[in-house]
Amino acid sequence: MRVFVCRRLPESALAVLTDAFGEREVAVYPEDRVIPREDLLAAVRGVEALLPILTDRMDAEVMDAAGPQLKIIANYAVGFDNLDVPAATARGIAVTNTPDVLTETTADLAWALMMAAARRIGEGERYLRAGRWKSWAPMLLLGVDVYRKTLGVFGMGRIGQAVARRAGAFGMRVLYHDTAPLPPDAEAALGATFVDKTTLLRESDFISIHCPLTPETRHAFAAPEFHAMKATAVLVNTARGPVVDEAALADALRHGEIFAAGLDVFEREPAVHPDLAGCENAVLIPHLGSATAETRARMAEIAAANIIARLRGEIPPNCVNPEALSAQACRTTRK
Ligand code: DGY
Repeated sequence: MRVFVCRRLPESALAVLTDAFGEREVAVYPEDRVIPREDLLAAVRGVEALLPILTDRMDAEVMDAAGPQLKIIANYAVGFDNLDVPAATARGIAVTNTPDVLTETTADLAWALMMAAARRIGEGERYLRAGRWKSWAPMLLLGVDVYRKTLGVFGMGRIGQAVARRAGAFGMRVLYHDTAPLPPDAEAALGATFVDKTTLLRESDFISIHCPLTPETRHAFAAPEFHAMKATAVLVNTARGPVVDEAALADALRHGEIFAAGLDVFEREPAVHPDLAGCENAVLIPHLGSATAETRARMAEIAAANIIARLRGEIPPNCVNPEALSAQACRTTRK
Protein backbone atom coordinates (compact mmCIF):
# COMPACT_ATOMS: atom_id res chain seq x y z
CA MET A 1 0.00 0.00 0.00
CA ARG A 2 1.46 3.38 -1.06
CA VAL A 3 -1.20 5.84 0.08
CA PHE A 4 -3.13 5.99 3.34
CA VAL A 5 -6.19 8.25 3.60
CA CYS A 6 -7.14 8.92 7.23
CA ARG A 7 -10.87 9.59 6.69
CA ARG A 8 -13.45 8.84 4.01
CA LEU A 9 -13.38 11.57 1.34
CA PRO A 10 -15.50 12.54 -1.67
CA GLU A 11 -15.38 9.67 -4.18
CA SER A 12 -13.97 11.82 -7.01
CA ALA A 13 -10.67 12.22 -5.18
CA LEU A 14 -10.39 8.58 -4.25
CA ALA A 15 -11.01 7.67 -7.87
CA VAL A 16 -8.14 9.94 -8.92
CA LEU A 17 -5.84 8.16 -6.47
CA THR A 18 -6.93 4.63 -7.36
CA ASP A 19 -6.64 5.43 -11.09
CA ALA A 20 -3.11 6.69 -10.51
CA PHE A 21 -1.85 3.93 -8.22
CA GLY A 22 -4.33 1.05 -8.46
CA GLU A 23 -6.95 0.08 -5.88
CA ARG A 24 -4.64 -2.14 -3.87
CA GLU A 25 -2.21 0.71 -3.29
CA VAL A 26 -4.72 3.10 -1.70
CA ALA A 27 -6.21 2.39 1.71
CA VAL A 28 -8.85 4.49 3.45
CA TYR A 29 -9.61 4.30 7.17
CA PRO A 30 -12.98 2.60 6.92
CA GLU A 31 -14.77 4.08 9.92
CA ASP A 32 -16.48 7.46 9.94
CA ARG A 33 -14.69 8.80 13.02
CA VAL A 34 -11.29 10.24 13.92
CA ILE A 35 -8.79 7.45 13.54
CA PRO A 36 -7.49 6.41 16.97
CA ARG A 37 -3.80 7.10 17.47
CA GLU A 38 -2.78 3.41 17.76
CA ASP A 39 -4.64 2.56 14.55
CA LEU A 40 -2.99 5.50 12.81
CA LEU A 41 0.51 4.48 13.91
CA ALA A 42 -0.13 0.94 12.68
CA ALA A 43 -1.79 1.97 9.41
CA VAL A 44 0.95 4.32 8.22
CA ARG A 45 3.73 1.72 8.32
CA GLY A 46 5.49 1.57 4.96
CA VAL A 47 3.33 4.13 3.11
CA GLU A 48 4.73 6.75 0.77
CA ALA A 49 1.88 9.23 1.11
CA LEU A 50 -0.49 10.22 3.87
CA LEU A 51 -3.72 12.15 3.46
CA PRO A 52 -4.81 13.36 6.91
CA ILE A 53 -7.62 15.68 7.88
CA LEU A 54 -7.26 18.50 10.37
CA THR A 55 -8.10 16.35 13.39
CA ASP A 56 -5.15 14.00 12.73
CA ARG A 57 -2.00 15.07 14.57
CA MET A 58 0.91 14.48 12.23
CA ASP A 59 4.05 14.62 14.31
CA ALA A 60 7.50 13.03 14.34
CA GLU A 61 6.09 9.86 15.90
CA VAL A 62 3.72 9.32 12.96
CA MET A 63 6.44 10.13 10.42
CA ASP A 64 8.84 7.69 12.04
CA ALA A 65 6.14 5.04 12.34
CA ALA A 66 5.61 5.38 8.58
CA GLY A 67 9.32 4.99 7.83
CA PRO A 68 11.92 6.67 5.60
CA GLN A 69 9.96 6.03 2.35
CA LEU A 70 7.26 8.55 3.43
CA LYS A 71 7.42 11.33 0.82
CA ILE A 72 4.38 13.49 1.37
CA ILE A 73 1.71 14.45 3.88
CA ALA A 74 -1.12 16.04 1.91
CA ASN A 75 -3.32 17.77 4.46
CA TYR A 76 -7.03 17.98 3.65
CA ALA A 77 -7.30 21.61 4.83
CA VAL A 78 -5.75 24.97 4.12
CA GLY A 79 -4.61 25.28 7.76
CA PHE A 80 -1.85 22.92 8.79
CA ASP A 81 -1.43 23.52 12.52
CA ASN A 82 -2.11 19.77 13.02
CA LEU A 83 1.22 19.07 11.32
CA ASP A 84 4.77 19.37 12.63
CA VAL A 85 6.22 21.01 9.51
CA PRO A 86 9.81 21.30 10.82
CA ALA A 87 9.78 17.57 11.66
CA ALA A 88 8.57 16.82 8.11
CA THR A 89 11.15 19.12 6.57
CA ALA A 90 13.94 17.52 8.57
CA ARG A 91 12.88 14.14 7.15
CA GLY A 92 12.57 15.35 3.54
CA ILE A 93 8.78 14.94 3.62
CA ALA A 94 6.71 17.39 1.58
CA VAL A 95 3.72 18.94 3.34
CA THR A 96 0.88 20.27 1.22
CA ASN A 97 -2.42 22.02 1.95
CA THR A 98 -5.56 22.96 -0.03
CA PRO A 99 -5.52 26.74 -0.49
CA ASP A 100 -7.69 28.85 -2.82
CA VAL A 101 -10.53 26.39 -3.43
CA LEU A 102 -12.12 27.08 -0.04
CA THR A 103 -11.52 30.83 0.10
CA GLU A 104 -14.92 32.05 -1.11
CA THR A 105 -16.82 29.26 0.67
CA THR A 106 -15.23 30.17 4.00
CA ALA A 107 -15.76 33.88 3.40
CA ASP A 108 -19.46 33.20 2.79
CA LEU A 109 -19.65 31.37 6.10
CA ALA A 110 -17.90 34.21 7.97
CA TRP A 111 -20.57 36.52 6.57
CA ALA A 112 -23.34 34.10 7.50
CA LEU A 113 -22.06 34.13 11.10
CA MET A 114 -21.71 37.90 11.11
CA MET A 115 -25.29 38.36 9.94
CA ALA A 116 -26.67 35.63 12.21
CA ALA A 117 -24.95 37.06 15.29
CA ALA A 118 -25.89 40.66 14.46
CA ARG A 119 -29.54 39.81 13.79
CA ARG A 120 -29.91 37.14 16.49
CA ILE A 121 -30.92 34.45 14.02
CA GLY A 122 -30.02 31.53 16.31
CA GLU A 123 -31.90 33.00 19.26
CA GLY A 124 -34.88 33.82 17.03
CA GLU A 125 -35.04 30.31 15.66
CA ARG A 126 -34.83 28.73 19.11
CA TYR A 127 -37.53 31.14 20.36
CA LEU A 128 -39.89 30.30 17.51
CA ARG A 129 -39.37 26.53 17.62
CA ALA A 130 -39.96 26.55 21.37
CA GLY A 131 -43.42 28.00 20.69
CA ARG A 132 -42.61 31.20 22.58
CA TRP A 133 -43.57 33.62 19.74
CA LYS A 134 -46.91 35.12 20.69
CA SER A 135 -46.98 38.32 18.59
CA TRP A 136 -44.88 40.77 16.63
CA ALA A 137 -43.44 43.24 19.10
CA PRO A 138 -41.46 46.48 18.68
CA MET A 139 -38.73 45.35 21.06
CA LEU A 140 -38.55 41.68 20.14
CA LEU A 141 -35.01 40.35 19.63
CA LEU A 142 -33.43 43.61 18.53
CA GLY A 143 -30.07 43.23 16.85
CA VAL A 144 -27.51 45.61 15.38
CA ASP A 145 -27.25 46.89 11.81
CA VAL A 146 -24.53 45.61 9.51
CA TYR A 147 -25.00 48.11 6.69
CA ARG A 148 -22.54 51.07 6.71
CA LYS A 149 -20.72 49.81 9.81
CA THR A 150 -16.98 49.23 10.22
CA LEU A 151 -15.58 45.78 9.54
CA GLY A 152 -12.23 44.87 11.09
CA VAL A 153 -10.42 41.96 9.46
CA PHE A 154 -7.78 40.31 11.63
CA GLY A 155 -5.46 38.47 9.23
CA MET A 156 -5.70 39.74 5.65
CA GLY A 157 -4.76 36.61 3.71
CA ARG A 158 -6.88 35.10 0.94
CA ILE A 159 -9.94 34.49 3.12
CA GLY A 160 -9.66 37.82 4.94
CA GLN A 161 -9.56 39.58 1.58
CA ALA A 162 -12.59 37.66 0.31
CA VAL A 163 -14.50 38.70 3.44
CA ALA A 164 -13.39 42.31 2.96
CA ARG A 165 -14.51 42.30 -0.70
CA ARG A 166 -18.05 41.38 0.33
CA ALA A 167 -18.16 44.36 2.70
CA GLY A 168 -18.36 46.71 -0.30
CA ALA A 169 -21.90 45.55 -0.96
CA PHE A 170 -22.86 46.58 2.57
CA GLY A 171 -21.32 50.04 2.25
CA MET A 172 -18.91 49.22 5.05
CA ARG A 173 -15.64 50.84 6.00
CA VAL A 174 -12.95 48.14 6.14
CA LEU A 175 -10.01 48.17 8.56
CA TYR A 176 -7.52 45.34 8.79
CA HIS A 177 -4.61 44.21 10.86
CA ASP A 178 -1.91 41.73 9.95
CA THR A 179 1.83 41.28 10.43
CA ALA A 180 2.38 43.58 7.42
CA PRO A 181 0.18 45.72 5.19
CA LEU A 182 -0.94 44.56 1.75
CA PRO A 183 0.70 46.10 -1.32
CA PRO A 184 -0.92 49.51 -1.99
CA ASP A 185 -2.77 48.33 -5.14
CA ALA A 186 -4.35 45.38 -3.28
CA GLU A 187 -5.32 47.69 -0.43
CA ALA A 188 -6.86 50.19 -2.86
CA ALA A 189 -8.80 47.46 -4.70
CA LEU A 190 -10.34 46.35 -1.41
CA GLY A 191 -10.80 49.87 -0.08
CA ALA A 192 -9.24 48.63 3.16
CA THR A 193 -7.06 50.52 5.63
CA PHE A 194 -4.21 48.92 7.58
CA VAL A 195 -4.37 49.76 11.30
CA ASP A 196 -2.71 48.57 14.48
CA LYS A 197 -4.54 46.03 16.60
CA THR A 198 -5.60 48.62 19.19
CA THR A 199 -7.31 50.74 16.53
CA LEU A 200 -8.96 47.67 15.02
CA LEU A 201 -10.40 46.70 18.40
CA ARG A 202 -11.53 50.22 19.25
CA GLU A 203 -13.13 51.19 15.93
CA SER A 204 -14.61 48.00 14.49
CA ASP A 205 -18.29 47.10 14.77
CA PHE A 206 -17.53 43.62 13.43
CA ILE A 207 -14.24 41.77 13.78
CA SER A 208 -13.67 38.71 11.64
CA ILE A 209 -10.65 36.54 12.45
CA HIS A 210 -8.68 35.04 9.54
CA CYS A 211 -5.13 34.55 10.84
CA PRO A 212 -3.37 31.18 11.04
CA LEU A 213 -2.86 29.62 14.47
CA THR A 214 0.73 30.27 15.57
CA PRO A 215 2.32 30.80 19.00
CA GLU A 216 1.85 34.55 18.37
CA THR A 217 -1.87 34.34 17.54
CA ARG A 218 -2.88 31.88 20.30
CA HIS A 219 -5.34 33.79 22.53
CA ALA A 220 -4.87 36.93 20.41
CA PHE A 221 -8.46 37.61 21.52
CA ALA A 222 -8.73 37.41 25.31
CA ALA A 223 -10.05 39.55 28.16
CA PRO A 224 -8.01 42.73 27.33
CA GLU A 225 -9.18 42.60 23.70
CA PHE A 226 -12.84 42.21 24.69
CA HIS A 227 -12.51 45.17 27.11
CA ALA A 228 -11.14 47.24 24.24
CA MET A 229 -13.98 46.39 21.81
CA LYS A 230 -17.27 48.28 21.48
CA ALA A 231 -20.18 47.05 23.59
CA THR A 232 -22.12 46.74 20.32
CA ALA A 233 -19.37 44.78 18.55
CA VAL A 234 -19.68 41.31 17.03
CA LEU A 235 -16.74 38.89 16.89
CA VAL A 236 -16.58 36.16 14.27
CA ASN A 237 -14.03 33.33 14.16
CA THR A 238 -13.76 30.95 11.21
CA ALA A 239 -9.97 30.54 11.52
CA ARG A 240 -8.78 28.40 14.42
CA GLY A 241 -10.39 28.08 17.86
CA PRO A 242 -7.34 28.73 20.05
CA VAL A 243 -6.97 32.25 18.60
CA VAL A 244 -9.83 33.11 20.98
CA ASP A 245 -9.80 32.55 24.74
CA GLU A 246 -13.22 30.88 25.03
CA ALA A 247 -13.62 31.35 28.79
CA ALA A 248 -12.84 35.07 28.47
CA LEU A 249 -15.19 35.38 25.49
CA ALA A 250 -18.04 33.75 27.40
CA ASP A 251 -17.41 36.22 30.21
CA ALA A 252 -17.45 39.16 27.80
CA LEU A 253 -20.67 37.93 26.17
CA ARG A 254 -22.38 37.37 29.52
CA HIS A 255 -21.41 40.78 30.87
CA GLY A 256 -22.30 42.71 27.71
CA GLU A 257 -18.73 43.73 26.96
CA ILE A 258 -19.45 42.83 23.37
CA PHE A 259 -22.81 42.30 21.70
CA ALA A 260 -22.46 38.85 20.15
CA ALA A 261 -20.14 36.28 18.62
CA GLY A 262 -20.30 33.84 15.75
CA LEU A 263 -17.95 30.88 16.09
CA ASP A 264 -17.20 28.10 13.65
CA VAL A 265 -14.06 26.90 15.44
CA PHE A 266 -13.25 26.07 19.06
CA GLU A 267 -10.28 25.69 21.34
CA ARG A 268 -10.74 21.96 21.99
CA GLU A 269 -12.93 20.68 19.15
CA PRO A 270 -15.36 19.03 19.31
CA ALA A 271 -15.75 20.26 22.92
CA VAL A 272 -17.21 23.72 23.44
CA HIS A 273 -16.58 25.63 26.64
CA PRO A 274 -19.75 25.10 28.74
CA ASP A 275 -20.01 28.82 29.57
CA LEU A 276 -19.98 29.62 25.88
CA ALA A 277 -22.62 27.02 25.11
CA GLY A 278 -24.78 28.79 27.68
CA CYS A 279 -24.56 32.19 25.94
CA GLU A 280 -27.69 33.01 23.93
CA ASN A 281 -25.74 35.72 22.08
CA ALA A 282 -23.22 33.24 20.66
CA VAL A 283 -23.92 31.55 17.33
CA LEU A 284 -22.05 28.24 17.44
CA ILE A 285 -21.55 25.89 14.51
CA PRO A 286 -19.35 22.78 14.11
CA HIS A 287 -16.36 23.86 11.95
CA LEU A 288 -18.26 24.18 8.68
CA GLY A 289 -16.15 26.89 6.98
CA SER A 290 -15.38 24.86 3.86
CA ALA A 291 -18.39 22.55 4.14
CA THR A 292 -20.05 22.68 0.75
CA ALA A 293 -20.22 19.65 -1.52
CA GLU A 294 -18.34 21.47 -4.29
CA THR A 295 -15.54 22.76 -2.09
CA ARG A 296 -14.99 19.57 -0.13
CA ALA A 297 -14.68 17.68 -3.44
CA ARG A 298 -12.19 20.22 -4.79
CA MET A 299 -10.14 20.03 -1.59
CA ALA A 300 -9.92 16.26 -1.92
CA GLU A 301 -8.95 16.50 -5.59
CA ILE A 302 -6.18 18.96 -4.76
CA ALA A 303 -4.83 16.75 -2.00
CA ALA A 304 -4.85 13.82 -4.43
CA ALA A 305 -3.08 15.89 -7.12
CA ASN A 306 -0.37 16.84 -4.63
CA ILE A 307 0.22 13.18 -3.78
CA ILE A 308 0.38 12.15 -7.43
CA ALA A 309 2.88 14.91 -8.23
CA ARG A 310 5.14 14.03 -5.32
CA LEU A 311 5.13 10.30 -5.99
CA ARG A 312 6.09 11.10 -9.59
CA GLY A 313 9.12 12.93 -8.26
CA GLU A 314 7.75 16.43 -8.86
CA ILE A 315 7.40 19.32 -6.43
CA PRO A 316 3.71 19.21 -5.47
CA PRO A 317 1.77 22.35 -6.44
CA ASN A 318 0.74 23.26 -2.89
CA CYS A 319 3.96 22.45 -1.05
CA VAL A 320 4.32 24.59 2.09
CA ASN A 321 7.88 23.40 2.79
CA PRO A 322 9.68 23.19 -0.59
CA GLU A 323 12.96 23.32 1.32
CA ALA A 324 12.19 19.74 2.41
CA LEU A 325 12.74 18.63 -1.16
CA SER A 326 16.17 20.15 -1.54
CA ALA A 327 18.81 17.53 -2.31
CA GLN A 328 20.44 18.17 1.05
CA ALA A 329 17.31 17.58 3.13
CA CYS A 330 16.60 14.37 1.27
CA ARG A 331 20.18 13.11 1.65
CA THR A 332 20.24 13.84 5.36
CA THR A 333 17.14 11.84 6.07
CA ARG A 334 17.61 8.99 3.61
CA LYS A 335 21.10 7.83 4.70
C1 DGY B 1 -9.20 24.43 6.74
O1 DGY B 1 -9.15 24.03 5.56
O2 DGY B 1 -8.19 24.76 7.35
C2 DGY B 1 -10.55 24.51 7.37
O3 DGY B 1 -10.48 24.79 8.69
C3 DGY B 1 -11.38 23.29 7.09
O4 DGY B 1 -11.64 23.26 5.76
